[in-house]
Amino acid sequence: MEFLKILLELFSNIKRRFKSVGRPHFQIDEDTELHLLEEQHAEELFALTDQNRQYLREWLPWLDNNVSLDDTEDFVRDSLEQFRNNNGFQLGIWFQGSLAGVIGYHKIDWVNRATSIGYWLGASFQGKGLMTRACRTLINYAFNDLRLNRVEIRCAVKNGKSRAIPLRLGFKEEGLIRQSEWLYDHFVDHVVYGMLKNEWQGPDK
Ligand SMILES: CC(C)(COP(=O)(O)OP(=O)(O)OC[C@H]1O[C@@H](n2cnc3c(N)ncnc32)[C@H](O)[C@@H]1OP(=O)(O)O)[C@@H](O)C(=O)NCCC(=O)NCCS
Repeated sequence: MEFLKILLELFSNIKRRFKSVGRPHFQIDEDTELHLLEEQHAEELFALTDQNRQYLREWLPWLDNNVSLDDTEDFVRDSLEQFRNNNGFQLGIWFQGSLAGVIGYHKIDWVNRATSIGYWLGASFQGKGLMTRACRTLINYAFNDLRLNRVEIRCAVKNGKSRAIPLRLGFKEEGLIRQSEWLYDHFVDHVVYGMLKNEWQGPDK
């Protein structure tokens, strides 16, 4: 029995490693797809970032370090390195053929089988449920394909639109991290939301 368990675990590890080699690509519905951000997307990604600079700057800390196409190319290269290292990945969200935003796993803690998700949308792509659906997809992938046990989403306390996403998906509010992030000229507190594999209701949640 013990031997069978070890064999099954070994098989699932091999399957997980094998899967990580394939480029992640998810068709969410006929208008919306997620796929790995690669070098050829850098120009479109920089344009989206630049058009949304002021709006994104309210909640994301990296806008002042991303001021040229070169910076976005560096981001894409780093993301691909992250993917090659089996440490998560960054996906573009395409809506009706246009790049609408980014979602990804910050990193994967394989020892504790946990990850956290980060995301942003261009302002004009808000209000359609795109990010809630993209998160649902990455949560399903984390639990079902990567065999993780815990997914976390952290949001600034006053970022109501971001907080609404884990709440909509049934995450538990687990606590508050004081002065968790430096945003250009001030600290913000973060709320931690968590979802465990045994709480997740599956693909149609
Ligand atoms: C956080 C952010 C991604 C939220 O965007 P969003 O559009 O509110 O989120 P969703 O794409 O999930 O859409 C939800 C909205 O679409 C509506 N909606 C329409 N169809 C929907 C559907 N099928 N499913 C869910 N929501 C739907 C919801 O009612 C909600 O609208 P409301 O806020 O008026 O109630 C966006 O505001 C953003 O990128 N902000 C700047 C960066 C940022 O804060 N990143 C997060 C850091 S932690």
